[in-house]
Parts: sequence; C-alpha cells; structure tokens
Amino acid sequence: MSLDNNLKVVLKAISPIGQSTADTNADLGAKKDTDFEKMIKLRHETLHYKRAKRLVEYEKDSLTSTLHLGVFEDGITNTNSEVCKPDAKLLACGTIVMEDQNDDLNEEFFRIRGMAVSKDFQGYGLGAKILDGLLEHANKTDFVKSIWCNARSSILPFYLKFGFEVQGSEFITDQGIPHFLLTKSITYK
Ligand SMILES: CC(C)(COP(=O)(O)OP(=O)(O)OC[C@H]1O[C@@H](n2cnc3c(N)ncnc32)[C@H](O)[C@@H]1OP(=O)(O)O)[C@@H](O)C(=O)NCCC(=O)NCCS
Repeated sequence: MSLDNNLKVVLKAISPIGQSTADTNADLGAKKDTDFEKMIKLRHETLHYKRAKRLVEYEKDSLTSTLHLGVFEDGITNTNSEVCKPDAKLLACGTIVMEDQNDDLNEEFFRIRGMAVSKDFQGYGLGAKILDGLLEHANKTDFVKSIWCNARSSILPFYLKFGFEVQGSEFITDQGIPHFLLTKSITYK
C-alpha cells in the first residue's frame, strides 16, 4: 500500500528535551505536547494502551547515545527535509538505545525499542521508514557489532524482512505478550 499522495510526511529525530510547542505569544496558556510527549503517547496507545504509561517510558530514553525517530504528518515539504509544522501529528516512532541483552550500557550493542505506528497508518511503509533510519544510524556508529530487539510474535515477519534472525524459542513477557529475541549483525560501516 502507499500513502495518499496528498499526505506529506517528514522523518526526523525526536529530542527528549524538546521545547513545548506552545507559542510564546498567541497560544500562551494552551500548552501543546513536545515531540517527545507525542512519542510517549503514541507508544502508549499503540503498545500498551490498557496498561500503565510507565511501561513505555524507557530508562535510557534521555541518554545522548539514544536516538528516537518520528514520522510526522503535515510536513511543510515532502522532500527529504527535516522540517515540519510545530503541531504536526506524529504518525510513527521508533527508538534505538545502546544496550546489551542484560540491559547494560554497552557500546557494542544497539537495541530497537518502542516501534509504534498509529493504527490508521499501519501498513503504509512508515514502520519501515523508521526502522531503516534506526539501522542506518547503527551502521554509522563506531564499535556497534550487533542490533537486537524483543519482537512481538505477531509482527515477526516485519523484522525478518530487515534481516533480523530469531534466537531461541518464543517467550512470554510479564505483560503476557508472546515475543521472540531477534538479532542482526552489523555488516557494513
Ligand atoms: C509493526 C509495525 C511497527 C510495522 O509498521 P508498519 O508501518 O505497519 O509496517 P510497514 O508498512 O512499514 O511494513 C513493512 C513490511 O513489513 C510487513 N509487515 C508489517 N507488519 C506486518 C505484520 N504484522 N505481519 C506481517 N508482515 C508485516 C509489510 O507487509 C511490509 O512488507 P513489504 O515491504 O513486503 O510490503 C506497526 O504495524 C505497529 O506499530 N504495530 C503495532 C505495534 C507493534 O506491534 N509494535 C512492535 C512491537 S515489537
């Protein structure tokens, strides 16, 4: 499927310390979400809407080694620009954190987390756009040897398309969701 030609999207990095998008004059008092807050909401709605929000706030979200990417609607341009309107809707997001499978900070490993595409926009290539961007970042980062994630079993084919390989057997998380551990080696720099 492809997106409606009229829908312009922009891929850009999301800063955890982003300014609120409330205008300093006209919109004073009408606080709008920062891009980071939009991302937490999208993660929550898409991944764990019936559960506590803290489940989608990751310990390493604010580290400088972490990269968050978002696809925003309502771009000013649909070229490769990273510019979009401050109130642009976040349609998809994903995060890569420097962390090994013991959850320790380790510069040889990157973990993909929080892959979430807004329900009405799933199946249009936005998740692929995000994952492509995260993998490109890992490929360009010194010392990283391997990327891993715990993937929901229901979307395993999505990750397999990107060259991830299944490690071990299916397991059930504390939230009762079946998952597989997937890994992918860094093949080029
Ligand atoms: C999983 C998710 C991130 C994929 O993003 P998306 O934008 O819907 O997927 P895309 O349109 O980019 O799909 C890319 C490819 O993966 C395939 N794919 C995506 N989701 C799939 C699924 N559930 N089952 C099988 N294949 C799937 C697509 O068919 C497409 O293949 P193609 O390149 O041959 O056409 C998104 O659907 C989502 O947020 N799902 C709910 C939350 C979730 O499960 N997150 C991941 C937690 S580990």
